[in-house]
Amino acid sequence: MEKFALVTGGMGYIGSHTSVALIEAGYQVVVLDNLDNSSEKVLTGIESITGQTPHFAHTDLRDVDAVLEVFNEYPITSVIHTAGLKSVEESVTNPSKYYENNIGSTITLVKAMQTAGVSTLVFSSSATVYSSSSKPPFDENAKTFPTNPYGMSKYIIEQIMADMALADSKWRLGILRYFNPVGAHPSGKIGESPSGVPNNLMPYLMQVAIGKLEKLPIYGDDYETPDGTCIRDYVHVVDLARGHLAALEFLENKNGVHFWNLGTGKGTSVLELVKEVEKVIEKPIPIEMKQRRKGDIPIVFADVAKASSQLSWQAKYSIEKMCADHWKWQKHYSDSRQ
Ligand code: NAD
Ligand code: UD1
Repeated sequence: MEKFALVTGGMGYIGSHTSVALIEAGYQVVVLDNLDNSSEKVLTGIESITGQTPHFAHTDLRDVDAVLEVFNEYPITSVIHTAGLKSVEESVTNPSKYYENNIGSTITLVKAMQTAGVSTLVFSSSATVYSSSSKPPFDENAKTFPTNPYGMSKYIIEQIMADMALADSKWRLGILRYFNPVGAHPSGKIGESPSGVPNNLMPYLMQVAIGKLEKLPIYGDDYETPDGTCIRDYVHVVDLARGHLAALEFLENKNGVHFWNLGTGKGTSVLELVKEVEKVIEKPIPIEMKQRRKGDIPIVFADVAKASSQLSWQAKYSIEKMCADHWKWQKHYSDSRQ
């Protein structure tokens, strides 16, 4: 039987790279997206990389009837669920928007899957579900305690999925806890397009590099880390995309709910990342030391042993490659807007 994957949020950063990986692996792909944080132009990017345009449903995942129509129209065999809102800051000021969109859309999706008889689902969760009281590296059994509504919405969806697996053994559910996705497709044709001033480090750094923003604020240089700045586990988005394929393959032979960290297992500090970007762009990045950002944890990196042993998945790309590919996309993206 032909493999037919529905990618919710497939016009977004992670969904678009995952769609490319699926098409390259021989899947037919249907992208479902309401274009809330993306543009239809992404289809052209995917097409120019893979030679195929995915089917596209311009649909809101909370619209039950429209989602059912998508399942009726295509012979979908599995779902990758990346659609969601992802700004921690906005979730703190508007929590109900996050609960309504992220949880509401997941419930609609699951109902439609039940009606259509589709039981394989891979969900985009986040390392943000781990408690700051856990000691890095975080393995999948580390204590969870999300500290903001965005993280809580991910945690609640994980719980819903775990309960579904308990209630009905037909479900094949994969929960991917991403660490810090960065980079872009090496072609420079798809990547991350944050709207407004970015909150996350890499897109901010890139906008300073291109001259759109003046200098990078560094939130704290007095942490207990070798250079005083926070350490994170950056992972190339193309590696992450391959992780979804590996999860789908695993679920072909396994029911139940399964959790995997997707990261490199290596930590990089803010200042180390700045240096890597400086090497790529061959000029200095202006920086400004600021107070610590509320809610930041000093050191976060993944224990990736489970994904390695169960999925035979490991991140391949180095931090240099992440910066080089992100820069290539940033240049392309900026040029296309001039
Ligand atoms: P993104 O904003 O680029 O992509 C998400 C896509 O979902 C967008 O295209 C948006 O238009 C769409 N969408 C949102 N709500 C929708 C709805 N109700 N119906 C249909 N489409 C909808 O984000 P991303 O970086 O690609 O993240 C994908 C997923 O991974 C998100 O769930 C996010 O929470 C999770 N995640 C992201 C990161 C990260 O750093 N990017 C880290 C951990 C987890
Ligand atoms: C953040 C979210 C996390 C989400 C992830 C998505 C918080 C507390 N956490 O993770 O829930 O899943 O984004 O990618 O918001 N930094 C600067 N200057 C900047 C931006 C960031 O110094 O302009 C620092 C931060 O203080 C942090 C590090 O860079 O130490 C990484 O920040 P960021 O890219 O926002 O990721 P996380 O905080 O790890």
